Amino acid sequence: MEQKEIGLYVHIPFCKKKCYYCDFTSFSGKEACYEKYVNCLKQEIIKYGTENKTMSKHNLEPEYIVKTIYIGGGTPSIIDEKYITNILDTIKQNFKLKQNTEITIEVNPGTVTKHKLETYKECGINRLSIGLQASQDEILKTIGRIHTYEDFLETYNLARNLGYNNINVDLMINLPGQTLDDVKKTIKNIIALKPEHISIYSLILEENTKLYEMVNSKQLSLSSDELERKMYWYVKQKLEENNYIH
Ligand SMILES: C[S@@+](CC[C@H](N)C(=O)[O-])C[C@H]1O[C@@H](n2cnc3c(N)ncnc32)[C@H](O)[C@@H]1O
Ligand code: SF4
Repeated sequence: MEQKEIGLYVHIPFCKKKCYYCDFTSFSGKEACYEKYVNCLKQEIIKYGTENKTMSKHNLEPEYIVKTIYIGGGTPSIIDEKYITNILDTIKQNFKLKQNTEITIEVNPGTVTKHKLETYKECGINRLSIGLQASQDEILKTIGRIHTYEDFLETYNLARNLGYNNINVDLMINLPGQTLDDVKKTIKNIIALKPEHISIYSLILEENTKLYEMVNSKQLSLSSDELERKMYWYVKQKLEENNYIH
């Protein structure tokens, strides 16, 4: 029987509070929907799993084998950890997983507890992606993040102490009020922590976000294209010097 490796992406569209720059599909204040959403997800997983088994049984499709699972958002760490266990159990019951499947969950500082990280580990999650963006609290406040740099460090160290050995950190450049010096300090701080992966995004000013309104009404201004490029080339060079492959 022919097999085809696939990656599954599971979206959790809930956040504690919407960051001002973000236009990902995510909503705050929807706690009443968490359970209903997870139940719908499980039904969808069962439906695709059953379809896949039937198709491969009749030689209409190769059988899918799951190589990676990515639970993203939104903020997956905002919902009760029992839901994450439920979702992963449903996937395992309905799909074949490769040995050592990489299973990632996105977590936000300010929404993580020791118990949550322990539960994730018990259900096979072996990679974390932590959103930080910048190490200056003033910038975090300007872009509407719910946490401080200290909160991020707490989450990061907790994860390391619990044995997570594959961690990504999300950072952003070109943020309002962010200087090249701020970027240099953030990069230095994060490199010192030695995460396995660092993702850097240059801000995209998305329509219909609070940041878009703030920039349009001149409450905030963005940096020049020249400064954005300086930040980009600095980050690229610094990460390469520290053996992060682009
Ligand atoms: C899927 S988002 C969610 C991750 C997680 N909820 C968090 O905020 O920490 C992944 C990353 O995309 C980046 N991002 C979100 N909106 C962006 C925008 N408008 N421009 C550039 N990067 C953005 C941020 O770095 C964020 O951490
Ligand atoms: S926490 Fe992440 S997904 Fe939620 S609003 Fe902020 S950047 Fe977007």
